[in-house]
Amino acid sequence: MSFPPLAFHVEPERGWLNDPNGLCYFGGKYHAYYQHNPTATVWTAPLSWGHAVSEDLLHWEPAPIALSPDMPYESTGGCFSGSAYVEEGKIWFYYTAVGEDGVQTQCLATSEDGYHLEKYPGNPILTGGPIDPTGRDFRDPKVFRWSDGSYRMVCGTGYEGRAAVVLYKSQDKLSWEYAGILFETRDMGPVLECPDLYPIEDKWVLCFSRMDQPQRVTFLVGDFDGERFTPESVQHPAVGPNFYAPQSFLDPQGRRLVLGWMTPWGAPEDPDPVRSGCLTVPLEVTLDDAGTLCLFPVEEADSLLRKEDPCLRQGEWLFQITDGKKLLLERPAQEVWDARVLADTHTREVFINGGEQYCSFFLEPDAFQD
Ligand code: FRU
Repeated sequence: MSFPPLAFHVEPERGWLNDPNGLCYFGGKYHAYYQHNPTATVWTAPLSWGHAVSEDLLHWEPAPIALSPDMPYESTGGCFSGSAYVEEGKIWFYYTAVGEDGVQTQCLATSEDGYHLEKYPGNPILTGGPIDPTGRDFRDPKVFRWSDGSYRMVCGTGYEGRAAVVLYKSQDKLSWEYAGILFETRDMGPVLECPDLYPIEDKWVLCFSRMDQPQRVTFLVGDFDGERFTPESVQHPAVGPNFYAPQSFLDPQGRRLVLGWMTPWGAPEDPDPVRSGCLTVPLEVTLDDAGTLCLFPVEEADSLLRKEDPCLRQGEWLFQITDGKKLLLERPAQEVWDARVLADTHTREVFINGGEQYCSFFLEPDAFQD
């Protein structure tokens, strides 16, 4: 069966979507790019970058494919995930190219309109990483500006059980110098994917997705001095079964917005023959007085939030969330002082206690029908 199109979410017109890429505001519009396979509703390489634009963060217009694999350095996997940095009237896109033998390198493309991307003739701009000697797990560059005018890039990597987020520095956005390991672990699976590093209030958030527990995106809140990250707390605000690879960007109002990939993992078995995967509604990231990181829909979505929905069971003792078949979350009712639901045709996103917990999921096909 085929699901009806979503009204308030980025999804491909046809084919497959995974991670959000290159999120930015440019030329009076929000741009969301995403990992895309236009030829099938499953992940198969080589990957392209799909594209959608919006003026209000809720209604998204499909745009032509923005990046396609057509270079020797993209010969096997294509154009993997990456980010956008806006400066000098251009968007600077940093992405991972996957070439011969599956070797991953970091590449640059620029655009003056957000639709036509030009690959930098000097690509790749970064090869090899400090952890993985094979170069096959070194990816997902996220770039931002540091306070002294230089630039930082974080990438995810891993090798033989050692997984890490590594840091690079640049003065000109073209040549990058290795600046050390920001975070490493032997307990979080093979690779830390899609890292992101950004300030919130007077703290910094280092976020990544772990391949071994795809439903457990990790947010470390701590300090960053331009070279080192010092974690102070580990938080998991996203508790739903379909959430991975969130990426943030700063919007013109100074809000830190995040979109994640609603994965098909654990979603209804029946694959949609037309399309698979969508991005979450844009979420604003905040830190409350107790230092808890919250994910709540942008205010543009206020009118869509409701307090009651069949996916919520709010009893005297228990608060429960269900996708129509499975119980997804259960908490003592007295702990839940607020719950809001954003419903689209076949997705639900539930926000508990102002976004302390965020649960995103696909409904079972015949959920809540008599
Ligand atoms: C995460 C990820 C990234 C990679 C991309 C490939 O879902 O594996 O690490 O760049 O997907 O599509």
